[in-house]
Amino acid sequence: MKIAFYSTKPYDRIYFEPMSEEYDIKIHFFEVPCNEETIPLAKGHDAVCIFVNDYLNAQMIHELKEMDCKAILLRSAGFNHVDIKAAAACEIPVLRVPSYSPEAVAEFAMALLLTVNRHTHRAYTRTRDFNMNINGFMGIDLHGKTAGVVGTGKIGQAMIRILQGFGMKIVAYDPYPNPNLDIEYASIEEVFQRADVITLHCPSTRETKHIVQAKTIELMKDGVYLINTSRGDLIRTEDLIEGLLQKKFGGVGLDVYDEEGGVFYEDRSNDIMEDPNLARLLSFPNVLVTSHMGFFTREAVQAIAEVTLKNADAVQKGLPLENAVQ
Ligand code: NAI
Repeated sequence: MKIAFYSTKPYDRIYFEPMSEEYDIKIHFFEVPCNEETIPLAKGHDAVCIFVNDYLNAQMIHELKEMDCKAILLRSAGFNHVDIKAAAACEIPVLRVPSYSPEAVAEFAMALLLTVNRHTHRAYTRTRDFNMNINGFMGIDLHGKTAGVVGTGKIGQAMIRILQGFGMKIVAYDPYPNPNLDIEYASIEEVFQRADVITLHCPSTRETKHIVQAKTIELMKDGVYLINTSRGDLIRTEDLIEGLLQKKFGGVGLDVYDEEGGVFYEDRSNDIMEDPNLARLLSFPNVLVTSHMGFFTREAVQAIAEVTLKNADAVQKGLPLENAVQ
């Protein structure tokens, strides 16, 4: 099997190359993202392999069909960047990595919370400048506070365990509550009203788009902390900025951003920032933006490589496709 591998970074080669030999799979690594312009590169390959800021719309999927592409391999759990209906119509299976390391993302969400609460991102630069003043760095005790968890799937549950370890009370919202969890569920409105910290762990769907917007921000406590490691479009950025200007938030940690495509994962430090919302977000002292890196641990990247290649192998051997997106 030959795979056209888009959006390659050096760490992808390190993990995928040796393992692909074991499976007798040939990977052609392309650094470019997968989009309308680059889709012709897939010609001559049996599968394409894409990451979170690549996309495949209906037209591109039809082109893949004409190229006799047999599988779309996602190096992610989320699949909102692929037109699943078009892929089904073209009979091209879409295979994902449903779970690689929920702990990796949850631990990162906690890192964001601890950072924006205790201002360690700013303390780092201040002390390097031999400015030992701590003014402006006061945070809150997390112990005894209430964390609102939106989405109690694999990552949400890992986050709940961490938050409970910090002595926090949990109030959660999920349309499919998990009876095995020893936590309190409430409506989304109540979660937003009661939480001192809100952490988002639901997928991007029609229902969750802009789950955080002016109306729901209004429900939140003053000084609330908001963490998003899920998908950028869960938050309406304009409304978040307005809330920040109204001093609603104690701190905001964002590993994902609605308009992250083409920007996150790239070194754009020599470019003029054209996105006014991103520029505004980066200007707030109590906001930390990271570049969609919650997944980025050795264990998680290793697991992504393993499952992606197993998915490819199942296609080449005609085995059941356990990780197919329906
Ligand atoms: P999961 O599928 O195990 O859990 C998602 C949970 O969200 C489920 O319990 C589901 O019932 C719930 N849910 C569905 N609709 C909802 C709604 N309207 N409101 C509240 N909850 C809702 O997924 P997992 O593995 O926990 O991942 C969660 C999200 O994390 C993914 O969808 C992905 O967007 C994001 N992610 C981010 C990464 C990063 O590097 N920052 C890496 C991996 C995933």
